[in-house]
Amino acid sequence: MRDMSYHAPEAEKERKRLHKDSSDVAPMDFGAGSQSRSRTIADIARSALKRPRHARALAALSDHIGAKHVLELGTCLGITSAYLAPHAETVTTIEGNSVLVQRAQKIWSRLGLLNIQCIAGAFDEVVPTLPVQEYDLIFIDGNHRGEALIRYVNALAPRLSAKGIIVCDDIHWSTDMEAAWNALRQETRWTLKVDFYEWGLLTANSDLAREFHSIRF
Ligand SMILES: C[S@@+](CC[C@H](N)C(=O)[O-])C[C@H]1O[C@@H](n2cnc3c(N)ncnc32)[C@H](O)[C@@H]1O
Repeated sequence: MRDMSYHAPEAEKERKRLHKDSSDVAPMDFGAGSQSRSRTIADIARSALKRPRHARALAALSDHIGAKHVLELGTCLGITSAYLAPHAETVTTIEGNSVLVQRAQKIWSRLGLLNIQCIAGAFDEVVPTLPVQEYDLIFIDGNHRGEALIRYVNALAPRLSAKGIIVCDDIHWSTDMEAAWNALRQETRWTLKVDFYEWGLLTANSDLAREFHSIRF
């Protein structure tokens, strides 16, 4: 039976622990937002992870659509994956930084989350080799450059289930990301498009009206 509470107190304890972790992580160049200097785990945990209310919103969305298979681009320290895991059969998540992959895996193991598979590698290389044919919820949360966002959406659209949803994070992070989001939402393949400011949602679900909404919360 699915867990109907979207709070994840044990994952939040892990987040608190990360906030106190001063070990360094070497930088990797993945595009926008990449740092040229090493950063501490605490820095990364404070700046890169979804806040609890947004992680809960994603978990609720997964639950609402009855998602079986969830895909996340950008694992980082695995906190959002930990929120999603109780609300899906499988969570596949991709991360290019192997230090973060190891840290995330340790966290999931402590939390007893057995349905998360983290694939280490660059998004462009991993996406064509994904293990599940169709995903019901795809969360794109890494490499916030407009051209990359469009590339990932194009590569992943054929892997989205008929009623599936793509959530594009940080669509207002830069003018470049805004332009990419505006181009994506005007594509005729999508029916419902929603701008939640924090992220943009796209679906090709043919049961839904062809509409665009902007909802700020
Ligand atoms: C914003 S963080 C993800 C946060 C995570 N979704 C959460 O809320 O818990 C983005 C992550 O994507 C990774 N990343 C960025 N570009 C990437 C790329 N092209 N290939 C693989 N990983 C990438 C970064 O190393 C970083 O850990």
